[in-house]
Amino acid sequence: MTQKQWNSVDRYITDLFVPSDPVLDAALQTSAAAGLPPINVTPSQGKLLQLLAQTQKANRILEIGTLGGYSTIWLARALPPDGRLITLENNPKHAEVARANVAHAGLSGIVELRLGPALDTLPQLVAEGCDPFDMIFIDADKAGYPDYFLWSLKLSLIGSLIIADNVIRRGEVVNPDSVDPGARGVRRFHELMAAESRVSATVIQTVGSKGYDGFTIARVIAGQ
Ligand code: SAH
Ligand code: DHB
Ligand code: MG
Repeated sequence: MTQKQWNSVDRYITDLFVPSDPVLDAALQTSAAAGLPPINVTPSQGKLLQLLAQTQKANRILEIGTLGGYSTIWLARALPPDGRLITLENNPKHAEVARANVAHAGLSGIVELRLGPALDTLPQLVAEGCDPFDMIFIDADKAGYPDYFLWSLKLSLIGSLIIADNVIRRGEVVNPDSVDPGARGVRRFHELMAAESRVSATVIQTVGSKGYDGFTIARVIAGQ
């Protein structure tokens, strides 16, 4: 199987099930114009995240890693009018583009972007005693995933869904000697998760226009 085939099948899925949307298209255009890397989730993956948030009947969503707000918009659109999405981003330029995209989507009232390293903003959320999140999407630096998982547990409740992007890394995740900090981070993340009795988890491998990768999906099944 080749990338060309994965692209055509991804297009087939998107043409059928993910009608093009001017607001989401604009978010990608402004992100590209500002020089942000094109590493957002694909349209079919954005739809998957939205379906999961809807199935979860999420009122509160936490996203770690905003970029230009593309996945943010997909997720925030799954929320009721009184819902809340908090998204964490370290890069001021990315944050500026994302804030404009979220505003253009009419979602500024329910989306809050917190600028700073997630390892600062996550403890802040806990210290503030913020309400737990029904769904947490981990998509920032992959070396940080083990820590993001531990903070996610503190910010969730029984039934919360924790999803992580980019956990297969073209198969590099099975290389125990990998020198890629991302692959090493994801391996440690999975080890922590597998040893954690408070979650029930699995990983789905994916192919598509972003190549060969995958999502970890975990449900919190017991309290702290
Ligand atoms: N979720 C986005 C893509 C996120 S890309 C989408 O699918 O549309 C990863 C983002 O994480 C980048 O914008 C990067 O700046 C941010 N990031 C990297 N390290 C971070 C950190 N330590 N804290 C917060 N954000 C970080
Ligand atoms: C990268 C980050 C992502 O979240 C992603 O989905 C793809 C690539 C990256 O940092 O290269
Ligand atoms: Mg990603």
